[in-house]
Amino acid sequence: MIVINPNVFGASNLDGRVREYVSRVLSERQLFRHRSDGVPSWNSKFERLLADWTGCGAVALSSGTAALRVALRVAGVSAGDRVLVSAYTFVASAMAVTSLGAIPEPVDVTTALGIDVTDLRRRLNSDVRAVIGVHVRGQMADLSAVAQFLGARGIPLIEDACQAMGASCDGRPAGSVGDLGVLSFQQNKQLASGEGGAIVSRRPELVTACARYADLGAIRDDTGLPDWDDERAMLGENCRMTEVQAAILCAQMEDLRAVLAQQRDLRDQLRAVITERGVVIATSADPSGDSASHILILARDHDHARLMRESMAADKVVGGIIWDRPYYCFQAFRRAGLAPEQLGVLAAPTAERLAPRLVAVPISPGLKLTQVEELGTAITTAYFHPASVAGIGEGR
Ligand SMILES: Cc1ncc(COP(=O)(O)O)c(C=O)c1O
Repeated sequence: MIVINPNVFGASNLDGRVREYVSRVLSERQLFRHRSDGVPSWNSKFERLLADWTGCGAVALSSGTAALRVALRVAGVSAGDRVLVSAYTFVASAMAVTSLGAIPEPVDVTTALGIDVTDLRRRLNSDVRAVIGVHVRGQMADLSAVAQFLGARGIPLIEDACQAMGASCDGRPAGSVGDLGVLSFQQNKQLASGEGGAIVSRRPELVTACARYADLGAIRDDTGLPDWDDERAMLGENCRMTEVQAAILCAQMEDLRAVLAQQRDLRDQLRAVITERGVVIATSADPSGDSASHILILARDHDHARLMRESMAADKVVGGIIWDRPYYCFQAFRRAGLAPEQLGVLAAPTAERLAPRLVAVPISPGLKLTQVEELGTAITTAYFHPASVAGIGEGR
């Protein structure tokens, strides 16, 4: 079915320079980032673009999940450690923890979907090795107080910015607030190479450690040859990005500023249309910094959210319930003994209350300003659907 606002962002930009750069990679037949001829790789070009964007050092990697694993390892997490994970997130944030044999524990969110500092204080103990905060659907959470609190205690903050490339909060780019920021370039992301990820950090020693760990711990000489006898070599894993991925991302990155400006403009107009008609949207810590990849509608309850999704679909508008529950409610986590009551820790009530109600409507880059009214009408019609209208406004 053709929809007005497909959940497609970076993947809508695969022509022009993307094709030109990819065809250069193909004609050079150099798919691997480490080359012997001294010519800068596409990976290193992309890392430079990311560094310019975030004001951090950057390492290009194979996926957001791999980047989370690398970040956790470099943060010192190993088997048996506990990691506090923002309860309202994609399962990958918690599964990166379990993949290292460590134990994810939820920490609750605020209504703006950042980590709740009061809950963080309550949960922190000497078993906690790191904390993962998450930015949801282009809305960057304000993690500055969390970063300060953890920094004073020497506990690393990993920012899962997989859904927030291009977003900022109070002028600070997503990924640059924590000790390590993690990005994803999977198919549905703001920059998309099918799979792909990165780590950014203001701390050069962490950037070097991430690059090394993700390159099987090797030290490389000027010709790209690896060495594991060097005293700086370590045990690592392979999480490298290919040159094809990096070339795609270099091209999309060149257009990012313009794409974000367009999305923010569309979002502002759409937000004005729907809020004027009484639709309630989720709180954002800094709306002007949102990447505006989505607008988040706060439905009254889960039934209302489902009804909204169906009504919008009938009008050819995409609106998804992001994750209908905190990650630990999925059976895969329960079966592994990782639900809060199984771990003997508290659940995350705000995340449990908000998750079933949040409906994300994509602001696709290809949208025209003339389609905003159409989108606004579909959202409003869905929100005030006759089957759900009684009681709207309760339970906010
Ligand atoms: C919040 C969040 N964390 C982590 C990931 C994992 O990224 P990837 O799919 O690149 O492994 C995603 C991807 O969808 C995500 O949305």
